[in-house]
Amino acid sequence: MRMRKKKWAVPYIAERTDVVVNDPAEYKGRWKEVLKTEEVRLEIGAGKGSYWIGMAKMYPETGWIALEKSPDAAAIGLKKCPEPGPNMKYIVGDAEMIEEWFEPGELSAVHLNFSDPWPKKSHAKRRLTAVKFRQKYWNLLPEEGRVILKTDNIGLYEYSLENMGDLFELVERNDDFRKEPHDEDVITEYEHEFMEKGQPIYRAVWKKKVNQ
Ligand SMILES: C[S@@+](CC[C@H](N)C(=O)[O-])C[C@H]1O[C@@H](n2cnc3c(N)ncnc32)[C@H](O)[C@@H]1O
Repeated sequence: MRMRKKKWAVPYIAERTDVVVNDPAEYKGRWKEVLKTEEVRLEIGAGKGSYWIGMAKMYPETGWIALEKSPDAAAIGLKKCPEPGPNMKYIVGDAEMIEEWFEPGELSAVHLNFSDPWPKKSHAKRRLTAVKFRQKYWNLLPEEGRVILKTDNIGLYEYSLENMGDLFELVERNDDFRKEPHDEDVITEYEHEFMEKGQPIYRAVWKKKVNQ
């Protein structure tokens, strides 16, 4: 996501101690206690925050953690959420670090919404379903844990369908997810744009394979 640099972003994030977790490692192993929920889900690449905000409101019994590496995008998302629910936290950081912040089994689902597709083969390692990342998700999810991907990008979709299978079992696949109403799932900012253009939204859900 390219956007004009916002001078106010970093100071604003620093002010939002109500919801931004500066040192996520401090909560390692304690996220359920901190969010006072039985399960905790992580959205990686939360962008401007609509999914995190909407899902946390729709499912208050679930803990929702947004992770976003761009301070500019994070600050926009946080501005949209002046009164976060007790089930919400925000981490400004890189998905590379998640094993420093969460204990194995601590997350029930990882949501990847419109992740950067990194179309060049030489950049494949950076895709959020690349082996380096999916191995981390596998380590952090419990049995029955899910990875849920939505994308407009057929290249990333096919790559994920082809490669996730080493550690995860595909349990749902929908090649035109928004053809039918899905009120149970919030539409993200990017998703809204692609829907306006009439593009299909691809969605896949994987369950952790056990005995790996
Ligand atoms: C294309 S945007 C999609 C934003 C939002 N999920 C949506 O659907 O509107 C992808 C976002 O993922 C973030 N991102 C990419 N790689 C990341 C990583 N390794 N860790 C955290 N965030 C990442 C980018 O900064 C960007 O904001």
